[in-house]
Amino acid sequence: MKSTSTSPTEVASEEEQYYDKISDLKAFDETKAGVKGLVDAGITKVPRIFFSPADEFDKVSDPGKNEFYVPVVDLDGIDKDPILRKNIVDIVRDASETWGFFQVINHGIPDTVLEEMLDGVRRFYEQDTEVKKEWYTRDGSKTVVYNSNFDLYRAESANWRDKTYCNMAPNPPSPDELPKSCSDILVEYSRKVRELGRFLFELLSEALNLNPSHLIDMNCAEGLAILYHYYPACPEPELTLGASKHADYDFLTVLLQDHIGGLQVLYQNQWVDIPPVPGALVVNIGDLLQLISNDKFKSSQHRVLANNVGPRVSVASFFTTGLMPSSKIYGPIKELLSQDNPPKYKETTVREYSLHYNAKGLGGHSQISILLSFRCPA
Ligand code: OGA
Ligand code: NI
Repeated sequence: MKSTSTSPTEVASEEEQYYDKISDLKAFDETKAGVKGLVDAGITKVPRIFFSPADEFDKVSDPGKNEFYVPVVDLDGIDKDPILRKNIVDIVRDASETWGFFQVINHGIPDTVLEEMLDGVRRFYEQDTEVKKEWYTRDGSKTVVYNSNFDLYRAESANWRDKTYCNMAPNPPSPDELPKSCSDILVEYSRKVRELGRFLFELLSEALNLNPSHLIDMNCAEGLAILYHYYPACPEPELTLGASKHADYDFLTVLLQDHIGGLQVLYQNQWVDIPPVPGALVVNIGDLLQLISNDKFKSSQHRVLANNVGPRVSVASFFTTGLMPSSKIYGPIKELLSQDNPPKYKETTVREYSLHYNAKGLGGHSQISILLSFRCPA
């Protein structure tokens, strides 16, 4: 029989491991050069702070070989034909209820703008490291927050990616507060993605059988944070992840990904690829939209695999005011409730919800239960 008591030497070695991890994390953080810095230095082994725990759904998933495809919605002509619009709303409703994800094409943002946005992200990360370091911070109140792993000291394992966060609305920064390497395109892309976001909120309102302006009138489209990512090529991609599994904490996310791939959504307990489609944007429901739709729409877990052909770049547009002071209360939308469909969630503010999310970090089980911790007792 195995003894449950621990000998003093075992305790010491556990503590040693713990302190090792902290000092490894600190050393990595202090380079301010992110994962790209490790790759630039010629690393051939993934350091253990990046080792990802095995995922319970990996063994049943065979991405690319299952019969599931995330819906691709063509918005071409939607404003000219009410019947087409109704058909599109039906597809959006179905996708939002089941996948929590869909892709859109002919969404009105020109390919040239998408390409230039991705180029701008590459220019930012590939500029002189000494210049880039000046943006490196963990102070979330800064206009531009560049770092590697916002949850570095809290997460179970670090991700093989670098990230930059800018709040673009409702209080847009002046262009000279943004990095020169991508400031013009950030401003232009944000403006266009905000317009698209408003349009998507109209379709989503209609999909909930509400007035088209309902979600916009609730200020769901008010805040926009742009998060742009760099996933360097990884020498041992099976040991780590580009992004640990998580659900997004906003109302809605519009994601621009390049041609590399690696994004996956958890669908019917299987990891399913969301393949790059030229000119497309990936749209996904966030936790706050699941909450206000009283579980009609689903905020699905997703992740990004590490790759050995990168860098991969992506730009996530988060519709949320994030940590901005907010007094507006969000709970399940009254019009959707009935005796058979009582509210499933407690009311919250965007700031309160975002604080919970930030405190947990990505991956593991704690992050997944955030929405659950707002559920009403059954
Ligand atoms: C995110 C995210 C996926 C990607 O930023 O929340 O899921 O492809 N990004 O970068
Ligand atoms: Ni996400």
